Amino acid sequence: MPNNRLPSVHLVGVGAALPDPCLSNDDLSQIVATSDEWIWPRTGIRQRRILPPELSVVDLAAQAARAALDQAGILPQELDLLLLATSTAVDRFGSAPRVQAALGASRAVAFDLTAACTGFVFAVATAAQFLQTGLYRRALVVAADVLSRAVDWTDRATCVLFGDGAGAVVLEAGEVGADGILSIELRSDGKGSELLSLAMATEAKPLVGSLRVGQYRCCPIVMNGREVYKFAVQAVPEVIEKALLQAGIPAEAVQGYFIHQANQRILDAVAKRLQLQTQQVASVLERYGNTSGASIPIALAEWIGQGRFGPGDLGVMAGFGAGLTWGAIVFRWGR
Ligand code: ACO
Repeated sequence: MPNNRLPSVHLVGVGAALPDPCLSNDDLSQIVATSDEWIWPRTGIRQRRILPPELSVVDLAAQAARAALDQAGILPQELDLLLLATSTAVDRFGSAPRVQAALGASRAVAFDLTAACTGFVFAVATAAQFLQTGLYRRALVVAADVLSRAVDWTDRATCVLFGDGAGAVVLEAGEVGADGILSIELRSDGKGSELLSLAMATEAKPLVGSLRVGQYRCCPIVMNGREVYKFAVQAVPEVIEKALLQAGIPAEAVQGYFIHQANQRILDAVAKRLQLQTQQVASVLERYGNTSGASIPIALAEWIGQGRFGPGDLGVMAGFGAGLTWGAIVFRWGR
C-alpha cells in the first residue's frame, strides 16, 4: 500500500519530441530483404522517425523537456534534478548536464541513467525517491534515444523495429499523503543480458613492449527476438499485477496503460493476460516504431494532448528491455 507518511510525488507535465524525417516499411524494403507484409502483421509498425545527422540526442531531449516544463508551468531554473535515461548518449561520461545547459536549468543536478527500454520507468522511480525524502522538490525525467545510430542497417531482424524519439515528465513533491505515484515495482535479471545488447567489444592492441591494452569498439544492437518476446509477455503482466496490488487498485479502474511500445503483439498479449479493454492500452508504435525508453512518455504525451487522459486519472506505466530490466509504476496524473 502507498506510504501515507511521506510527501506525495506528482507527475505534472509531459512532453515529447519526434524528428520529422519518416522511414516507412516500403522505404526499408529498398535497404534490406523485407516488406510491409512481413513487418506490419508481426510488429504493428508502419513507419519510424529518423534524427538527421546534424542533430543529437541532446537536442531531442531538450525539445521534449521544454514541452513538459511548459505543460507543468515550471521554469527550468526551478528544477532541482534532471535525469536523462538514454542508451545512445553523445558522451558516455554523461549527457544529462548538456541537456541541463541547453535548458538553462542552472540549479538542477543532472546525471544519466541507463536501463535500455526500461530507462524511463527506472528514472521516474529514482527521481521519486529524491522528492519523497524531501531533499528536492522538482525533477525532470527525460528519456531520449537515437537508436537509428545504433542499429546495423544490414540486419533486417532488428533495423525494422526501432525509431528515434524523446519524452519527458516533470515531477513535483506535494503534501504528505498517498497520492501521485502510488506504487513502484522494479526488476533486473542479468542472466538474460545476452538476449538483447548494445555492447562494447574489447579489442586487444599491443601498447609497449609485451604490454597489451584493450580498446573499445561499439557494436550494433543484437537481439534474440523470440526469447525477448517470451520474456516480455510473461514478465510485464506479472510486474503490472504486483504494482496494482501494492497500490490497492483493480486493473479495470485504470484509465491508461502506457506500456513500452516494442511490438503490438506484446501489447495485445499483455492486455489479454490482464483482461484489459483495448481502449485502456495506449498504442503509438504504428507511427514511431520502438523508441526505447522514450516510448512511454511519448504515448502519455499523445493521450494527454488528445484529452484521452487527464488530471485525476489513474495510469500504469510499464517498461521492459535489455538487461534484462522491467518495471511498473501506478500513478494518478496531475497535481
Ligand atoms: N523481414 C523479413 N523477414 C525477416 C525479417 C524482416 N524484417 N526479420 C526476420 N525475418 C525472417 C528471419 O530471417 C526468419 O527467416 P527464416 O525462418 O528463413 O530463418 C523468419 O523471418 C522468422 O524470424 P524470427 O526472428 O523467428 O521472427 P519472429 O516471428 O520471432 O518475429 C520479431 C520477429 C517481430 C522481432 C519478434 O520476435 C518480436 O517481436 N520479438 C520481440 C522483440 C522486441 O520486442 N524487442 C524489443 C524489446 S526490448 C527493447 O525495446 C530494446
